[in-house]
Amino acid sequence: MVDGRGAIRFHPEGIDVPFVPGESLLAHAIRGGVPLLSPCGGESRCGKCRVLVSGGTRGGEEPGTLTRAEIASGIRLACRCFPTEGEVSVTILPGSRPARLAAYLDGTDLAGDEPFLPLSRAASGGVPLGVALDLGTSTLAGTLVDLSDGTVLSRATADNPQMACGEDLISRVVFAEETTGGFELLRGRLLSGVDGLVRRLLETSPAQGEITDVVAAGNTVISHFLYGISPSPIRRPPYHPVRKEYPIVPGETLGTGPATARAMWRIFPSLGGFVGGDVVAGILASGMHRQEEVSLLFDVGTNGEVVLGNRDWRIACSSSAGPAFEGGEVGCGMRAYPGAIESVRIDPESSAAEWTAIGRVRPAGLCGSGILDLCAELFRAGIVDRGGRFTSRDGDGRRSTERGEAFVVVPGEKSATGRDVVFCESDLKSVLRTKAALCAAAEALLAAVGLPREAVARVYVAGGFGNFLDLRSALTIGLFPPIPLARFAPLGNASLAGALGALRNRRRWKEALSLASGTLYHDLSSDPGFMELYQRGLFLPHTDEESYRSVLAAEVRVYP
Ligand code: FES
Repeated sequence: MVDGRGAIRFHPEGIDVPFVPGESLLAHAIRGGVPLLSPCGGESRCGKCRVLVSGGTRGGEEPGTLTRAEIASGIRLACRCFPTEGEVSVTILPGSRPARLAAYLDGTDLAGDEPFLPLSRAASGGVPLGVALDLGTSTLAGTLVDLSDGTVLSRATADNPQMACGEDLISRVVFAEETTGGFELLRGRLLSGVDGLVRRLLETSPAQGEITDVVAAGNTVISHFLYGISPSPIRRPPYHPVRKEYPIVPGETLGTGPATARAMWRIFPSLGGFVGGDVVAGILASGMHRQEEVSLLFDVGTNGEVVLGNRDWRIACSSSAGPAFEGGEVGCGMRAYPGAIESVRIDPESSAAEWTAIGRVRPAGLCGSGILDLCAELFRAGIVDRGGRFTSRDGDGRRSTERGEAFVVVPGEKSATGRDVVFCESDLKSVLRTKAALCAAAEALLAAVGLPREAVARVYVAGGFGNFLDLRSALTIGLFPPIPLARFAPLGNASLAGALGALRNRRRWKEALSLASGTLYHDLSSDPGFMELYQRGLFLPHTDEESYRSVLAAEVRVYP
């Protein structure tokens, strides 16, 4: 007990958070900095904020989301559960705890062939250091560089602490607007997350010095939080940001931690409300802006952004694809952490699923690449039809659940949680919406400039998901337009690679500024043809099944 009203104790950390009557357990966790997933921002939609409670509480017993057995054992949704006294013990369940992922560090810079021309100013003592940052919706990633010779000294990732206030950007904008002190809280969490990341970079660096320059790439909402500007206008028509460019300022003006307070901060410019500096950095890393041939760039994350163009012109849009491939909106979805199923195969005869899980541990759920594989395999095995419904076949690994009929990927006795890892029709519908939006966004850009898909010579796929997805599965479900697989190239964390490139070469920073002004933002909400393209993609793989079939058939010949 920490004061007269008591405290809520969160396990396994054993963090005591002072009890405030009328606040949910989720609000207590956020206030106390306790890591707890809340992808829907506390609106009781995602079912991911599961906790085991003991002590006086009311609410949080959501029958549509929790089973009767779970409710009876004391499991609650933290966003709907309110402590009635200050002597409550809360255990955050394994699937509701954020974790870390090193894969967010790996990015490819296909344009990084220039001489070393650092941004650095003279350091007052020792080695001048620079930090490249990717400020992602869910993950912060950074690279520390010796600016005297360009050597990478250390790399690190951390969860974005804003996740506790909503996993998607709009939930955070709503939280900032509708919660007293919400904007300051979210901004403070971002700054403290970045500061912690920078401290870790310094602690693990073999050389010490003074950080003189920081280059940060993030989406428009995160960039607004970092710069101290309310992102509220981005959530309402016409969805414009308050600003697209961010003047270079010292860290102390932003209120950063002491390690970067004297460094000059450069934040990548945005293209629009939902196409941010991370996409500009991705273009920079892909090198598509230097090529004569036309390329498509997909950045598949919590949102999906698409860029089409070459050295002479570029057009970009955001698809509001939804977080299905980040594990959101899928009952057994999770991010790509140890215990996440990353690939799946289904025996078409027996309907038995074979899977591999990250870390070779018991599986707890499905991450993006596993979800993608599973959808493709369910379709190939004839267990679901083109409309995303279970077929009437018997004996194919299905059973009834409280969320409707489901395919059992892993039975409870083999999972990390003791619960079945299942995939329901509603999960598949979420995937169909996500993939239809992403594919339609690319087709809308092609239509806007009057080019056929055959004109696309390269397809770059950025984002951690892009490094792990199986392209055959992606085309089997129609995630991308039907373009030969040989034209695809994964980029990984292109945002971090682009920021690193700009940190090491000041000409590339200037290139980034001109990229932002030379790339057209295409607003899909006012594109009259988008909805038709989207609806055509709501099937497996698409209403244009023949084009997908012929691309996949050709691949079998190329890759026997
Ligand atoms: S259901 Fe509680 S945060 Fe989503």
